[in-house]
Amino acid sequence: MIPDNFSTPTPEPADRVGRPMFSELQIQRRTSQLAREIADDFDGREMVVIAVLKGAFVFAADLIRRLNKLGAKPMIDFIHAASYGSGTVSSGKVAISHDVTIPLVGRDVLLIDDIIDSGRTLAKIRDHLLEKGAASVKCCALLDKPSRREVNFTPEFVGFRIPDRFVVGYGLDYDERYRYLPYITDLKAEGDP
Ligand code: IMP
Ligand code: MG
Repeated sequence: MIPDNFSTPTPEPADRVGRPMFSELQIQRRTSQLAREIADDFDGREMVVIAVLKGAFVFAADLIRRLNKLGAKPMIDFIHAASYGSGTVSSGKVAISHDVTIPLVGRDVLLIDDIIDSGRTLAKIRDHLLEKGAASVKCCALLDKPSRREVNFTPEFVGFRIPDRFVVGYGLDYDERYRYLPYITDLKAEGDP
């Protein structure tokens, strides 16, 4: 039997999603190329994949399965760091609220995030993982906004470089919404058609 409340979904807020900036197919193709670049770089060495929560979970899930098709059998862990409150402006501070549990001493790490903006999040996490004894930390982000950089940070692997626009979908959120979209899009400003 279907419960009564099943037919009354919670109302969604006004839809501010624009046209895809990167389609599902473009993301899939680029992810496969990235997996190839990463597999070539690691050259058979074992890796620990660490995904930055929450935004990187969708990209990491796709990337690890493509890496496995190329022979990699990575251990997977997560770290939760946040530099944003609710909204589109960074607070400038990065707090690690959930740490990795796999011992990293002597291990080669592939650190995965959804997007690099100021660079503070990944710079801080990379230093943190090196302090925990990782032998090396290479960083992979699906998206990069190089014009927004505030600290000296260069990722080893980048899916797409984008201009200074706030984007959502494929794991990226605005105030915890839109992570479910299978593509990347920018948000329309309030009142735009
Ligand atoms: P950074 O520390 O300034 O490089 O910020 C990186 C984090 O900010 C990412 O992991 C995202 O969670 C968030 N972020 C930055 N730009 C965007 C965006 O355009 N859309 C959604 N989240 C973003
Ligand atoms: Mg994030």
